Amino acid sequence: MTAITLVQGDITRQHADAIVNAANSSLLGGGGVDGAIHRRGGPAILEECRALRASRYGKGLPTGRAVATTAGELDARWVIHTVGPVWSATEDRSGLLASCYREALRVADELGARTVAFPAVSTGVYRWPMQDAARIAVETVRNTPTAVEEARFVLFDERAYEAFARQAG
Ligand code: AR6
Repeated sequence: MTAITLVQGDITRQHADAIVNAANSSLLGGGGVDGAIHRRGGPAILEECRALRASRYGKGLPTGRAVATTAGELDARWVIHTVGPVWSATEDRSGLLASCYREALRVADELGARTVAFPAVSTGVYRWPMQDAARIAVETVRNTPTAVEEARFVLFDERAYEAFARQAG
């Protein structure tokens, strides 16, 4: 059974086996969580991202997929990068958002990570409505078979924390 826990705070300050990054397909950095992870984790993360772009992901990491790198100087062994979908009012992309969590857990299992910290993927720059993102995140983690013992959602502000708390019960 995977325990779902919630904390309000900065994901780059978490101690966990793996920290999930809300990246973009380029894997070469950006703002939000992505910017914070690269800033605090240092250049080793970007170096591995560049190597992934030069090998397996020449065209970038597709939306809904996940891939791991070192966590550099973060208090974790790995960063698992995933690419959330941009919110659309006209197209249902919730399957892709669910896929981010499922794929991140699959990669965590491959690595042997037992504690995994997740941000609220797609709820910042990608504009996904928070309560709906919380529903998809919590339901997907609950319904995905995994050896991960703790899935910790790290919510940046009170509004995000409340949305996840309503969902996680
Ligand atoms: N710790 C935890 N949560 C955070 C942190 C932090 N340090 N910083 C922001 N958040 P976003 P996305 C929250 O924009 O929507 C990047 O430029 C934030 O309040 O980081 O998936 C990438 O390179 C929000 O609730 O990710 C992509 O281009 C949530 O994390 C694009 O943004 C996600 O916000 C991805 O957009």
